[in-house]
Amino acid sequence: MKVLSKMKSENNPAPQTHSNSVSSDRVFSGIQPTGTVQLGNYLGALVNWVAMQESHETFYCIVDLHAITVAQDPKELRDNTLKLTATLIACGIDPQRATLFHQSSVREHSELAWILNCVARLGWLNRMTQFKDKAGKDKERASVGLYTYPVLQAADILAYKATHVPVGEDQKQHLELSRDIAAKFNHDFDVAGFFPEPEPYILGPGARVMSLRDGTKKMSKSDPSDLSRINLNDDAETMAKKIRKAKTDPEALPSDVDGLEGRPEAQNLVGIYAALAGTTVKDVLRDYEGKGFGDFKPALADLVVETLSPISQEIGRLSADEKYLKSVLDQGTLRARSVAEPIVKQVKEIVGFL
Ligand code: TYM
Repeated sequence: MKVLSKMKSENNPAPQTHSNSVSSDRVFSGIQPTGTVQLGNYLGALVNWVAMQESHETFYCIVDLHAITVAQDPKELRDNTLKLTATLIACGIDPQRATLFHQSSVREHSELAWILNCVARLGWLNRMTQFKDKAGKDKERASVGLYTYPVLQAADILAYKATHVPVGEDQKQHLELSRDIAAKFNHDFDVAGFFPEPEPYILGPGARVMSLRDGTKKMSKSDPSDLSRINLNDDAETMAKKIRKAKTDPEALPSDVDGLEGRPEAQNLVGIYAALAGTTVKDVLRDYEGKGFGDFKPALADLVVETLSPISQEIGRLSADEKYLKSVLDQGTLRARSVAEPIVKQVKEIVGFL
């Protein structure tokens, strides 16, 4: 619960929680089974996923349908799906509390995506910056799936009538589109309130973790430089080395948040520290004001290793037990289907399918 109280204290309205009961809000979020999970995924999303499973009905989805919008090696995709299941559990997702499953196993995601493709407008998709970034210069060669990717994301959320979606800041535009699609469906079919407009839940200093090599670029598993990110399965020595080598500036740390303006690398490292320590940037600066990176980096490296090393070891242990991981996903699939099936059945009736 430490994280939820931190969220509230930063003036971000957290969904209603009650200490002894599960709230009626429904939480949905997803992560792609491509490459290894990095610190940005952990601080931007997974920490909040873990906190929210305590007080909410939660659905956490390994989005393999989204993964194939760019080419994937089939064997690697299968292996990555299991590895990611192990990683999410190692980070604290409890499959008894949260419904943890892979997207392709619940056909309602694809069915609803098609229907919503017919609700979303071309002009809306043309504005999606992530498509522009991912498609690069040669848009003609991008898959059609990559283009309609955000509609599938809306279907993921709306198939469960989810009300809250914990994500990093990079997903904000996709979440706005999900809200627009929900509202247009409700309006076009005259079913006011049928789909809730899902609230993005983007919180705290970890909502946008930047590259360790360039504080103006997002930390990403697709960055060609491994030194740009901390992977959750890095060993302790590698994590510490990456922090040591992180780009910085020669100035000492300022006394207040405004002093970090125009210093993207300093801002990023202090933000990472605050997110890992479950505190605010302001509090970190109070402790490190006037200190240089020679002092700050070893403290940050210790904190990173202390937090992530046990997770990294647990990933190794769980990854060896494929049978268990598959049973978790099977169980999650059944639970997810039991919720999505009746909702999508209703959607089909609303749309006029016989
Ligand atoms: P994905 O797999 O790229 O990332 C998973 C989550 O990690 C967050 N994240 C970050 N947060 C802070 N700093 C960073 N550097 C950073 N990098 C990644 C992402 O914001 C995300 O929350 N489209 C989604 C997956 C998805 C989804 C959904 C999410 C599919 N369907 C429905 C929510 C609801 C994605 O590609 O996430």
